[in-house]
Amino acid sequence: MSNKKLSGEVYFPSEKIIEKAHIKDRDDLDNRAKKDYSGFWSEIANELHWFQKWDKVIDDSNKPFYRWFTGAKTNIVYNCLDVHTKTFRRNKLALIWEGENGESKTYSYFALHRETCKFSNILKSLGVQKGDRVTIYMGRTPEIVIAMLACARIGAVHSVVYGGFSVESLAERIEDSNSKVLIVSDGAYQRGKIVHLKQIADEALQRCGTVEHCLVIKRTGQEINMEQGRDMWYHELMNLPIATQNCALEIVDSEDPLFILYTSGTTGKPKAILHTHGGYMVGTYATLKYVFDIHEEDRYWCAADPGWITGHSYIVYAPLLNGTTSFLYEGAPNFPYPNRWWAMIEKYGINILYTAPTAIRGLMRFGESWVNRHDLSSLRLLGSVGEPINPEAWKWYHRVVGKEKCPIMDTWWQTETGMFMITPMPSVPLKPGSGTKPFPGIEMDIVDESGKSVKANEEGFLVIKTPWPAMIRTVYKDPERYISQYWSKYPGIYLTGDSARRDEDGYFWIIGRVDDVIKVSGYRLGTAEIESALVSHHSVAEAAAIGLPHELKGNAIYTYVILKSGIEKSPQLIEELRQHVSHEVGPIAKPEHIEFVDSLPKTRSGKIMRRVLKARALGQDPGNISTLEE
Ligand code: PRX
Repeated sequence: MSNKKLSGEVYFPSEKIIEKAHIKDRDDLDNRAKKDYSGFWSEIANELHWFQKWDKVIDDSNKPFYRWFTGAKTNIVYNCLDVHTKTFRRNKLALIWEGENGESKTYSYFALHRETCKFSNILKSLGVQKGDRVTIYMGRTPEIVIAMLACARIGAVHSVVYGGFSVESLAERIEDSNSKVLIVSDGAYQRGKIVHLKQIADEALQRCGTVEHCLVIKRTGQEINMEQGRDMWYHELMNLPIATQNCALEIVDSEDPLFILYTSGTTGKPKAILHTHGGYMVGTYATLKYVFDIHEEDRYWCAADPGWITGHSYIVYAPLLNGTTSFLYEGAPNFPYPNRWWAMIEKYGINILYTAPTAIRGLMRFGESWVNRHDLSSLRLLGSVGEPINPEAWKWYHRVVGKEKCPIMDTWWQTETGMFMITPMPSVPLKPGSGTKPFPGIEMDIVDESGKSVKANEEGFLVIKTPWPAMIRTVYKDPERYISQYWSKYPGIYLTGDSARRDEDGYFWIIGRVDDVIKVSGYRLGTAEIESALVSHHSVAEAAAIGLPHELKGNAIYTYVILKSGIEKSPQLIEELRQHVSHEVGPIAKPEHIEFVDSLPKTRSGKIMRRVLKARALGQDPGNISTLEE
């Protein structure tokens, strides 16, 4: 590591941390990776099993449709489960689960493999074939992991819809993916209450016509509607003779689709990001191994939801690829008391905790004493993801949770990147609020409008200049959108949609989104989704949504609504509209604030100028408004 003195407030790792770390000198690894990028990735790929090796590590013959490990044959599930069942890990715990109501379950690698195979057989018996899409809409229980793996094992493509989404979001995603099978749970526990997932699914299924089979996992046990011929209980299916624990694995091409995951973009409907088996497997495996420094004896907890990319990559796939023991918790961090997380870290002896700034800020509010009543000495590393972490929250996390001995891995990445892109490693000096530098070999930059690199400490657009193995392959069914969204502002360069600056030491500092995406409590929402939900209400003529800074959530949703003529403004209507958005999109999208207005600032071509609304709300100068219509 270079001995150059770093500017600002710097936290150095202890000797003990460095000694244990897989990577002791990131700069050295970065140099090596940059010298031979293909060699770097092929060396890592060789740690995994392939039924047939690749002809080429990176195929860039049809940019920006990059292909990785072309010609290779694999299946990510083989590396997640089968390989471990053939070693000493067979009886090692793969998954420890705790329900919000205190129930708990564990699965060894052997058991997780068995359950996955059984469910794969069920899916096959229902006609699910390689390439078919299957929508999964569930709470955080082990069955969501089993369902994802069971799809991937037979080459089917899962499309997980986060359980916090609601009717319209679910319907739209089922329809767009053309899923014939939906896997759902009856309900999920959240803050002591039941979220009626099956009921939401029933409503969604009335709005879309593709689903032939709906498989229902019994979690909460309340009375639900089971439609004859369409709905079947998971536990009954898993007891059928066809649900044997042997299921031939589908050997797939490295570039065969693994999953699609819908995420919000700049305009219009959410788009499905497509990831494939081979590159995604290598990228997620390597990043988790090096960044969270996975060792055989670790117990690792990523407190995200499996329904988001963080859960896909770092609850399901990467931990299993690394053969580690992963912890999954169903419920809210502060239920029944604000010490819930700390109690579970103590109880299960968690070594690594990976969560979002919003959760840290939320738990910080309750004060240190809730943390201090538990023995958290098992913790070795902490992580953060989803939004910029403010230095105050970083320091609290470091001091109160990590007792000043656990480095914080602030990982910047996206649904599209599939894997960590800007990230520390345990041996790297940290600055609170910065994710440090790109993962070895990956070239990222901050550029101005014309694509020129900006000077140190100047703000600009964050871009990625090298392909990476877990990269998005395309927008499902919409390759044009893949090109226009990510590769057209600067041809040949990937546009992240974030703005950032880089300090004199080369450390990256993320500022936030520069498009119409709002990060609320780390969740990614599009202004268009919120606006169309509002407009779908009979009293609304037009609507605009923006994100404004919020102490706890990072950003909160502010909306401006033009009512149809003759509709009376009232506080009741405001509440009704908030509920309407919650019902259509999901509780996470419920606006913090709704204001009735008579007009909205628009360009002459009719585009809402959210920038102007934002400036007005913040009492700032709106800047150049020459394109404003009136
Ligand atoms: O704005 C960045 C923010 O989250 C966006 C990606 O959101 P999503 O696709 O939902 O994936 C989130 C989890 C990987 C980014 O464009 N973001 C993510 N991680 C960080 C972050 N902002 C600052 N610091 C981070 N560590």
